[in-house]
Amino acid sequence: MLCSAKLTSPSLRSSLPPFNHSISLLKPKSCCSQSQPMQTQTQTHDGANALSFDFLTKKSYAPPSWATHLNPTPSHVFSLAHLPTPIHKWNLPNLPQNTEVYLKRDDLSGMQLSGNKVRKLEFLMAEAVAQGADCIITIGGIQSNHCRATAVAAKYLNLDSYLILRTSKVLVDQDPGLTGNLLVERFVGANIQLVSKEEYARIGSEALTNVLKEKLLKEGRRPYVIPVGGSNSLGTWGYIEAIREIEEQLQISSNGVKLDDIVVACGSGGTIAGLSLGSWLGALKAKVHAFCVCDDPDYFYDYVQGLIDGLQAGVNSRDIVSILNAAVMVGHFGYRSFQAKGLGYAMNTSEELKFVKEIATATGVVLDPVYRGKPCLSLKSCACEHDVAIIYEVLYLGQKSRPCPVSVLVSGKAAYGMMKNMGENPKKWEGRKVLFIHTGGLLGLFDKVDQMAPLVGNWQRMDVNESVPRKDGIGKMF
Ligand SMILES: Cc1ncc(COP(=O)(O)O)c(C=O)c1O
Repeated sequence: MLCSAKLTSPSLRSSLPPFNHSISLLKPKSCCSQSQPMQTQTQTHDGANALSFDFLTKKSYAPPSWATHLNPTPSHVFSLAHLPTPIHKWNLPNLPQNTEVYLKRDDLSGMQLSGNKVRKLEFLMAEAVAQGADCIITIGGIQSNHCRATAVAAKYLNLDSYLILRTSKVLVDQDPGLTGNLLVERFVGANIQLVSKEEYARIGSEALTNVLKEKLLKEGRRPYVIPVGGSNSLGTWGYIEAIREIEEQLQISSNGVKLDDIVVACGSGGTIAGLSLGSWLGALKAKVHAFCVCDDPDYFYDYVQGLIDGLQAGVNSRDIVSILNAAVMVGHFGYRSFQAKGLGYAMNTSEELKFVKEIATATGVVLDPVYRGKPCLSLKSCACEHDVAIIYEVLYLGQKSRPCPVSVLVSGKAAYGMMKNMGENPKKWEGRKVLFIHTGGLLGLFDKVDQMAPLVGNWQRMDVNESVPRKDGIGKMF
């Protein structure tokens, strides 16, 4: 059907069409909306004209008018996510007076691709295809949402994926199992390469991906490498675009809601780079508050600076985003969380889980899970391990102690931080309209069922009296 000439990997692939075209009933994406038209011609990655379906097609890209000065501008984007993701009011309990919280459901950006990573992948995959790649290499934790999203996106485009996944020394020689993100990765045929945390810490993500790249090149493959979390300057466009999407949603359906704040989790920095730059440059002008789940704010101010410098934005990261610590290690094994540096409060893993459970019970929204592991790494790896929802299993090997969590929630922790901050500084938030970005991560929840079991009740054997007479209804089973 389409582009089979491009297939380079053996056997099965040649019998498959390169795209799983489906009929999309979604509204047009913001980046091809009438107000900011993308070139409307829809292309598959081999250049063939496609039907007018939008999903899984490559398009030329035109940035929002307020971002045209950024450089380089991507030439193309792949439609991989289900966009726009909905925004709805989030009826959280105990908000400060007249504070309204809205939820941007990026967890609904697509089933296997769900979460924030897919927005970055739309741009990264377009570049991969433009460069003629036949496989994708990326790297992350054993339950990396980014790696799962990459594996699915690659398969949608009929590319192979190679995932370097970091796990503990005792597990590195074993089958990693099928829990959570691993199930999806293995179902879609990702090639999984396990490394120990010690190897990861010693060699670093960049060198590890290079080693694999060299090997694949020698085998005649054409790999494209995506860094941890998809957080480079190109990936940043994903959340610049998200700001355009939010702007359009507000114009269309907000009944005049003007956002004051955006709250979001930060794990590898790309999401906050795009959101804060877009909000600063565009009409939104909402203040972006990031809760970092790894390393510390200084690290992320610098990292975000690098990403936006890579786009020649000419702005200072400290002017456009406020980054708060989401978790701080106390001693070596316990940790406590902060909603802002200096405003500490004790919180342990079961409190986090309880919070996630309570939010789900109160509002129906399931945030992402806690990961917990044995501390075993150097701090250095924390800074580069930030593709969560993973285990930030970090210990400072005889170094000066620096804060880093043993376990993290990602959007769950950011929501916890926001609620705590609101509780302790109600005046700061009173009357404000806040958009919380739910960045996904639900699949990882399945890795935590044992820890969550004590938190959920609500079941019992139904009391059925044998004398109740039978009456058939719809859908009778027997
Ligand atoms: C579920 C989830 N939310 C938020 C983040 C943070 O996004 P970013 O890596 O772009 O900082 C990540 C990954 O790090 C994630 O997996």
